[in-house]
Amino acid sequence: MIDLETHKKLMAKWPGRIYATPERVGPRLRHLEGLLPMLKDKVVLELGANAGIHALEICQWADHYIGIEPDADYREQFMHTFFDHESFDEMWVLWPTLKEYDHALHYQPDALVACVMFYLLSDEELELLAKHIMPRVDTVIIQERVAHRERKGNTTNGLHTPKAIRKWLKRQGFSAATYFDKTGKIFEVVGHK
Ligand SMILES: C[S@@+](CC[C@H](N)C(=O)[O-])C[C@H]1O[C@@H](n2cnc3c(N)ncnc32)[C@H](O)[C@@H]1O
Repeated sequence: MIDLETHKKLMAKWPGRIYATPERVGPRLRHLEGLLPMLKDKVVLELGANAGIHALEICQWADHYIGIEPDADYREQFMHTFFDHESFDEMWVLWPTLKEYDHALHYQPDALVACVMFYLLSDEELELLAKHIMPRVDTVIIQERVAHRERKGNTTNGLHTPKAIRKWLKRQGFSAATYFDKTGKIFEVVGHK
């Protein structure tokens, strides 16, 4: 798990606005930590890679890492994070969108991770996931915060509650369960085939 000093050193190098502060991601990373061994030796596709803080933890376990991040500033932050962690060179790739990645598909994922972003996916992306990604994947971790999200204004596709996420996963052929932190504010829906 990344320590505070390393996190702050990375932040000092990141250009643009910063989302991935220790306060914002620290509690979620610590809750995710216990689930990471299930990604051992897998090709992991992470949606919403942001500055690569979750990716660093995933790379400790995975065989290969594929990140999707549409925001150019965050992609640049991700590069800085990984330039500072040379031991992971050769094991990661970063794509701007799921659609562009799907067009290439030269790494086949067998696990999917999405942290505080699943509710942002478009109908087209959800369809692409359902048709092309989920049939190959056998392990899923979707992390979310319990938060009020309005359907109107396109702030959610409806997939922000444990129930809705589990239902979606079940439709893709997964068994799914929810794992809450002790505050009841952070949860992961974990799915297995
Ligand atoms: C709330 S932040 C969460 C970042 C990080 N996953 C975390 O848990 O700290 C949402 C992230 O998802 C990215 N994002 C937004 N729409 C996306 C999409 N359609 N596909 C992939 N990533 C997306 C954003 O640019 C941002 O980096």
